[in-house]
Order: sequence, then C-alpha cells, then structure tokens
Amino acid sequence: MKKKINVNDYAGRITEALPKGILLCTNGEKFNAMTIGWGGIGTNWSIPVFTVYVRESRYTKSLLDRTGEFTISVPLGEPDPKINGVCGSKSGRDTDKVSEAGLTLEPPTTINTPGIREYPLTLECKVLYVQPQELDRLPKEIVERFYPQNVPGTFPMANRDPHTTYIGQIVDAYIIE
Ligand SMILES: Cc1cc2nc3c(=O)[nH]c(=O)nc-3n(C[C@H](O)[C@H](O)[C@H](O)COP(=O)(O)O)c2cc1C
Repeated sequence: MKKKINVNDYAGRITEALPKGILLCTNGEKFNAMTIGWGGIGTNWSIPVFTVYVRESRYTKSLLDRTGEFTISVPLGEPDPKINGVCGSKSGRDTDKVSEAGLTLEPPTTINTPGIREYPLTLECKVLYVQPQELDRLPKEIVERFYPQNVPGTFPMANRDPHTTYIGQIVDAYIIE
C-alpha cells in the first residue's frame, strides 16, 4: 500500500533527514541505492523538484545518465546504520546492495525505479537538468576540503572528482505502508 502525500508537508522532515543520510536509488542493468547527505527539495520551473549531487566515479552516476530517473527514499525515524553504511561505502559496481544491506524493494508507480520499504517516504523523480560542476568556479576552501586531488575517484567519501548536479522533477510522492 502507498499513501500519497503532498511533498510540501514533508519538506522539513526530508531536509532534516538529509545530513544523516537518505538513499538515492537508480535502476539500470540492476537496482542500486547510494547514501546521500547533500541534496534538496525545492521549486524550479514552477514545479516541485529534488536536486542531487553525484561524484563522477559513482556507479549511481552511470545508471542516472542512462535512465534519466531516480527515486529518493527517506527513513521516517532514525536511519538504519547498516543500510546507510553499506549503501554509503560499497559500490554497486561490485556489490549487490539489496542483499548486502537487506533492502526490500517496492514496485514504483510512475517511473521504473523501485522504492524501499525500510525507508518508506518515497519521491519518484525524472531528471530535467544535468550540469557538471566546475571546481575553478568554487571557493578555494571548498575545493581543498571536499575535492582532495591526491584521493582517487574510487574512494567512497571525499575525493578528487567533482560533482554533477541533477535536478529531477518529483512526479510522484508517497509513503510505503
Ligand atoms: C552520509 C553519506 C553521505 C553521502 N553523500 C553523498 C553525496 O551526496 N554524493 C555522492 O556522490 N556521494 C555521497 N556519499 C558517498 C556514496 O554513498 C558512496 O561513495 C557509495 O559507495 C557510492 O555507491 P555507488 O558506487 O554504488 O554509486 C555519501 C556517503 C555517506 C556515508
């Protein structure tokens, strides 16, 4: 069962959950979930959007670029340390995160990327805009802190890779019950 929601009613909750880690889900040759701590719910082109920032070498990026859609999955209480840990440290390139993190997939309604029962607050999004960030347009302190050039892009946390900004239209929003 899915309970439809008005995203505006949950914007505060999503914003509070973000720094603790929510999931960005993609579905290409297989389903994958990646922990994200940066992002934002908002309005652009007069429609509700969710924006995510994905580093170059993430497996998630290759799936996003291929499918042009993603699902955002947010826990209603505290995040599960095992789920956030597995999805935030292992790459879907060489791990099946569904079995390793113990995720239960829920069929989507509007796009092709499932949601996750364990993180029931779900936003289905279609990518409208993709923009690679340019490090030389950022303040030096941010580049030094978040883009250490001696760390390879395969490292799960901060590394040399810039982020790409993806703005997705929220086409469906619900709570999995
Ligand atoms: C709390 C937390 C927040 C994170 N936020 C982001 C993020 O916003 N963007 C990003 O590219 N990686 C972020 N990561 C790192 C990815 O989750 C991690 O590199 C993951 O293993 C990539 O998975 P994938 O290769 O299957 O896409 C975060 C990790 C953690 C633990």
